[in-house]
Amino acid sequence: MNVLCFSVLAILCRFASSSEWCYQSQVTCTNGSHTCVGPDDWKEVAETCGHSKQSPINIVTKQVVVDSRLTPVQFTGYQETINAVITNNGHTVQVKLPESTKISGANLGANYKAQQLHLHWGKNGEPGSEHTIDGEKYPMELHIVHINEKYNSVDEAIKDSSGVAVLGFFYEVSANANNKYDGIINSLKNITHPGTNVTLPAVSLDMLILPHNELERYFRYEGSLTTPGCSEAVVWTVFEKAIPLSKEQLSAFSNLMFSDGTPMVNTFRPVQPRHERTVNYSGSYVFCVSAVLLLSSVFTSLYTLTV
Ligand SMILES: *[C@@H]1O[C@H](CO)[C@@H](O)[C@H](O)[C@H]1NC(C)=O
Ligand SMILES: *[C@@H]1O[C@H](CO)[C@@H](O)[C@H](O)[C@H]1NC(C)=O
Ligand SMILES: *[C@@H]1O[C@H](CO)[C@@H](O)[C@H](O)[C@H]1NC(C)=O
Ligand SMILES: *[C@@H]1O[C@H](CO)[C@@H](O)[C@H](O)[C@H]1NC(C)=O
Ligand SMILES: [Zn+2]
Repeated sequence: MNVLCFSVLAILCRFASSSEWCYQSQVTCTNGSHTCVGPDDWKEVAETCGHSKQSPINIVTKQVVVDSRLTPVQFTGYQETINAVITNNGHTVQVKLPESTKISGANLGANYKAQQLHLHWGKNGEPGSEHTIDGEKYPMELHIVHINEKYNSVDEAIKDSSGVAVLGFFYEVSANANNKYDGIINSLKNITHPGTNVTLPAVSLDMLILPHNELERYFRYEGSLTTPGCSEAVVWTVFEKAIPLSKEQLSAFSNLMFSDGTPMVNTFRPVQPRHERTVNYSGSYVFCVSAVLLLSSVFTSLYTLTV
């Protein structure tokens, strides 16, 4: 009986009354229709969302392929103070970035210039990342979106299967607050409503990520944007080491609001099938460097002993 009622309700609520895409946390049933189109139905909004090279994915560490070409990412302009505007765009908070900020190296095969950064999070510091590692979801994930420098816009870059390079960083809960995030977190109070923005106090991208020598281990795969249109144009670089933020700092993001006035929480797309794709890992580079350092220290001590 209960099962029957459930199916009847499910059928009654099968259609969306609006063609706006949204996260699962925003989908509710009103008068027999969904208020917006949730992730399971995004292919109705953008057909590409149903294709086979979608993001995010679950990264299975046992199955990664070590790729010695995955040298460290070279960051340009990440140390510079930027005068940035942070916006609540109704789906996330986004910061527009100056195009003088660039990345190269890391077997990317081109220079990519920054466009914007944004975040995906859970609810009050609970799991909410998009990518997962061996099934584990982190509390938040940062995406720094870059395009091949030969293009003039994201719209142009997404027509190329490697037109976009996104750097993904996980966060983890730390006992102490990460004061480098004070500017961003304090600004959230001023942009609780969609369509509002505020200028951030002085901040550099290096303040938001980890020291570069802690970013040598990363995963690489070919995927898509994680919001509609879901364009399969992204070279993904997902770093292994997580950025620390306190529970309070992570929870501050849950005070933002969606356009329907409900808390902006669980702003992630569920993981997508990996299909034939391999995930590569930069691990051997780090291994080689440590092996060389180890060997050279052994030789140095031998040399010191024999002299
Ligand atoms: C739901 O239906 C009721 C009665 O027909 C109507 O008054 C109300 O505005 C509808 N709500 C929405 C969100 O469409
Ligand atoms: C942000 O909001 C606070 C009040 O909550 C206000 O004092 C401050 O001036 C605002 N900042 C900006 C840059 O608008
Ligand atoms: C910020 O908001 C103001 C007022 O709504 C708007 O005029 C301006 O274009 C916005 N700036 C950015 C960078 O989104
Ligand atoms: C992963 O490495 C293999 C070689 O082991 C290579 O053929 C493939 O193109 C690499 N994939 C990515 C996404 O870099
Ligand atoms: Zn994203």
